[in-house]
Amino acid sequence: MSDMPYPDALRVDAFDKVRGVQRYAADNARPGLAHAVLATATIARGTVRRIDAAAARAVPGVRLVLTHEELNGLKPPGFLMGGGYGFQSIQPITSPHIAYRGQPIALVVADNLEAAAEGARLIRADYAAEPHQVTLDAPEADIVAQADSPLPKPMFADVKAGEADAAYAAAAIRIEADFRHPPQHQNPIEMLSTVAEWRDGHLTVHEGTQNAEAIRHGLARQLGIEPERITVLSPSAGGGFGQKNSLQAHTVLAAEAARRLERPVKLVVTRAQIFHDSSFRPASRHRIRLGADTAGRMVALIHETDSQTSRHDLFPTQYTELSARLYGIAGFRGRERLVRTDVQTPGYMRAPYEHPAAFAVECCVDELAYRLGRDPVALRLANDTTADPITGQPYSSRYLAECLRRGAARFGWDRRSMEPGSMRAEDGSLMGWGVAIGAYKAATAAAIARLRLSADGAVTFSVGVHEMGQGIRTAIFAVLVRRLGVEPGRITLEIGSTGTTPQHLTAGSWGTATAIPAAEEVCDALLRALETLPSRLSLAERLRAAGRPYLEVEVSRRAPGQPEAVMGRLTSGLPAAMGPAYPGYVSFSHVAHFVEVRVEPSTRRIRVPRVVSVADCGRVISPRTAASQLRGGVIWGIGAALREVSEVDVRYGGFLNADLAEYVLPVHADIGTIDVEFVDAPDPRLNAAGVKGLGEVSMVGVAPAIANAVHHATGRRLRALPIRVEDLL
Ligand code: MOS
Repeated sequence: MSDMPYPDALRVDAFDKVRGVQRYAADNARPGLAHAVLATATIARGTVRRIDAAAARAVPGVRLVLTHEELNGLKPPGFLMGGGYGFQSIQPITSPHIAYRGQPIALVVADNLEAAAEGARLIRADYAAEPHQVTLDAPEADIVAQADSPLPKPMFADVKAGEADAAYAAAAIRIEADFRHPPQHQNPIEMLSTVAEWRDGHLTVHEGTQNAEAIRHGLARQLGIEPERITVLSPSAGGGFGQKNSLQAHTVLAAEAARRLERPVKLVVTRAQIFHDSSFRPASRHRIRLGADTAGRMVALIHETDSQTSRHDLFPTQYTELSARLYGIAGFRGRERLVRTDVQTPGYMRAPYEHPAAFAVECCVDELAYRLGRDPVALRLANDTTADPITGQPYSSRYLAECLRRGAARFGWDRRSMEPGSMRAEDGSLMGWGVAIGAYKAATAAAIARLRLSADGAVTFSVGVHEMGQGIRTAIFAVLVRRLGVEPGRITLEIGSTGTTPQHLTAGSWGTATAIPAAEEVCDALLRALETLPSRLSLAERLRAAGRPYLEVEVSRRAPGQPEAVMGRLTSGLPAAMGPAYPGYVSFSHVAHFVEVRVEPSTRRIRVPRVVSVADCGRVISPRTAASQLRGGVIWGIGAALREVSEVDVRYGGFLNADLAEYVLPVHADIGTIDVEFVDAPDPRLNAAGVKGLGEVSMVGVAPAIANAVHHATGRRLRALPIRVEDLL
């Protein structure tokens, strides 16, 4: 951190960010750097019959061209969900097989970027194309029941409680509806990019990532070297959202090119290529059957899903882990299926299952409110629960009702009239008010935290967590400053880079609930180690009084109930997190969103001038970054509800709108007031810090709140995202 002042309310990296001091990985201009560009496949499935790189090699400045003919010795990374490190199991450019449009077929490396790009443009391939299938509307033969997948049970078993089918059949009120969610891409500001450099047989990789340890161990497997010979540096990534949660396909290509050329190589996956070169949110469809009695008690929920996966991997889904837990419904049956398509393997994108699942369920709950003539907030409160309907166990904490009550008061919900189309804004537009709730598992990962205090007062802290803009550095600083009373300027955080403590995957909203309790524990361990020395002295003075140049303490933490063997996974770069089920309880964060939409009567343009969101994420560590996470989640929900879709043309495969001009995201003009509040009640059962996750729950429920508001404004039930003007004409 710079020597700028650190008021508690600020982001610790704010000054460095606005002054351009903070760098992305691709900004590391190493001496002698060569530039690499990918050439990609133009068919959706088949084989490269012949590849012609002669023209590329002839471009002045081109130093190396790698095709599958050169790279067939490179090993695959293994699939993240199957014990490996890669977002998918296959490694492009190691065989002539083409599994999806946009798959890399060659890497061109040159003295400058222009020559590399020109070379990549000149790569020619002859293909033997095979028939492909890129949408969910695939023949029955391509559908796999998740219950039949080889992935570990019970994690991916179908969720079930009570007798849902019988209860649904007997229910006085039955709602049945189908929902569709399109594929979407994360599009973080920082592109996938790698600067790879070898020195004396040691590989250093600069790459913005959520999972430095997986890159290290995965590259070791792919390159056939010891992990000890690899360092991955990711002090701060420019956004992740699940896209950077594993070893990407391009990384080993940069490393291998650098090894062969004996000079540093930079490879930036372009914005268009990112749409085909990393994971994305798969298309999904959801059939909901919701049964209730005439008093408004929900008695049965059946949630059946079909979700897109690749031909080569089964990306598992857990949509129903969430839908089973939103309410206290005694009869629940989930069934998840995967549809094989010819795309790269999809993966996790912010609230990967929870957002689409909540869209389906929460639209149906709104429909139920209208069938009953009940206020949608009152109906939700009446169906809240204190026990987990699946396991019967208590929640570690559950303040959903509090979120709903506070949100309703803040929003002015009592001024809402129930009748669709009954409210008008002063500008004459149709006004709709909608509500929906969300939840997200409160996961926790194993971690090792290390704290070093020097006699000169400097503090160095390391724990396995990655800064990707969410603000974890600021939260950790808050703990160190408060607990140790040290000046912020004396603190160095070593996170996101290997070679310190194990840099476990930061995902699943477990970063804060993992890093903060570990930070508090290691601070306490340090204070205990110095407690025999006079407390009127500062920590550094005590150290000097004891005649010691420094003191280092380390704590090792596991999630509640996690077996000791998990530490082996942690140190080998494998996922080492758990939740929502812990011994004796389950743990979730909750949120309630209240949305106002305005629909312009003639053009049907939809605006979202006002959102009120109240979240329960346990204790709030950094109010500023927490509020920013919640607002960001709401913006993502607005994007998902009204803008974002990765367009597919069944004739060609791949994704058509592969740039930020045509992959439409909300811009400033699309965002009105987002008013956020936190319950801020500690959850001491999950960890001593009382912290649950926030990053993903923030988004869950925004899209259905908008869809419900659109119904309130227009009387139209829209069940496919995104909702657009043409859907309301
Ligand atoms: Mo996240 S979508 O678990 O990186």
